[in-house]
Amino acid sequence: MKRLLIVEDKESLAQMLRESAEADGLEADVASTGTEAIRWLAEGRRYVAVLTDLRLPGADGIAVLRQSRENDPDCPVIVMTAFGTIENAVEAMKLGAYDFIQKPIDVDHLSLLLRRCREHRELRYENLLLKEEFQKRYRLPAIVGDSPPIVEVGQAIQRVAQTDSTVLLQGESGTGKELFARAIHQLSPRRDRPFVAINCAAIPETLIENELFGHEKGAFTGATSRQLGKFELADMGTIFLDEIGELGFGVQSKILRVLQERRFERIGGTATIDVDVRVICATNRNVEEAVKSGAFREDLFFRINVFPVTIPPLRERRQDIGALTDFSLARFAHELNRPGLRMTDDARAALYDYDWPGNIRELQNCIERAAILCDRNLIQLRDLSIVPQKK
Ligand SMILES: Nc1ncnc2c1ncn2[C@@H]1O[C@H](COP(=O)(O)OP(=O)(O)OP(=O)(O)O)[C@@H](O)[C@H]1O
Ligand SMILES: [Mg+2]
Repeated sequence: MKRLLIVEDKESLAQMLRESAEADGLEADVASTGTEAIRWLAEGRRYVAVLTDLRLPGADGIAVLRQSRENDPDCPVIVMTAFGTIENAVEAMKLGAYDFIQKPIDVDHLSLLLRRCREHRELRYENLLLKEEFQKRYRLPAIVGDSPPIVEVGQAIQRVAQTDSTVLLQGESGTGKELFARAIHQLSPRRDRPFVAINCAAIPETLIENELFGHEKGAFTGATSRQLGKFELADMGTIFLDEIGELGFGVQSKILRVLQERRFERIGGTATIDVDVRVICATNRNVEEAVKSGAFREDLFFRINVFPVTIPPLRERRQDIGALTDFSLARFAHELNRPGLRMTDDARAALYDYDWPGNIRELQNCIERAAILCDRNLIQLRDLSIVPQKK
């Protein structure tokens, strides 16, 4: 990118600026009115930087600045100010101008500013590339295990990830519901959009509506500014309603409406907000039971139970214990600086025999604790906090 936008109505000055930019290896588009510059920006022309006069016929430099910020927030805008109009320059800086330069223009100073703009652009671009690279590499959370039940779950989530269908993840505590929810998002076309998680059990009933839908300024005492809720933050992305079985009855009906219509109002607001969100729910409770006992709305249950996925407890897929153990050993060897962390055969055998009521989280915690306690980076049976079960 080496094109500069110059907005200047005085022809002689515009010509001088163009020559100065060209001497620095840039190409220039010259607009003689703010209106023309705004049209080019609105058409989507991209520039390494924008250099604009403040006082212009038609739309002024501030309007050009605004349009540029809107099109391409990373594009640096330099404003030119006449002698004695420093307040205008200050205003421009507040609106996000990159820098200002005073007339008469000092060519060397301008040249320096433009060089900085180019460096700023290149750095941003490199950062973006790095970020993409990072996302590519860490896109999928590691899902360890090759037992038939976990492979089946993996296939199911791969298929449903391609759709916008609501997914209900069911499983005991620590089985990996959140891990799978993230995997669905990462495998879906929404992967570059936000994944927004909310734990319905952790937030008191009176606050959850605010969390989900946000509020307008003045909606209640203390609402000093507008605040967006999770549904709005997740727009175009995925919202993860964790522990949905714990939702109070009152909030259930509000969620039902969003799931049906994909629209809602902020608390204290009248405008209806439309959102495009993919919904994933999780629960470690048997929601069908809760429906029978009257604690969970049946209509909401039908809404979320579109594509149920049950993650089996670890004791029903013991063959994964080996791989999960090796995975945790490698992880804690690194995190706790325990190079070559290993485990004796009888310790490993005890892990196979144990029932793991806390599932994978419990297994991880158990290995972490043993890694801290053990001598010479070798985990022995006595380092494990589980009671071996007699078969
Ligand atoms: N198959 C797996 N491979 C690797 N790590 C896993 C696997 N399943 C779960 N884990 C890890 O186990 C821990 C618990 O998983 P997660 O938080 O997803 O469980 P959960 O079902 O949401 O639990 P809870 O109901 O307690 O919230 C996490 O650290 C997660 O990364
Ligand atoms: Mg969880």
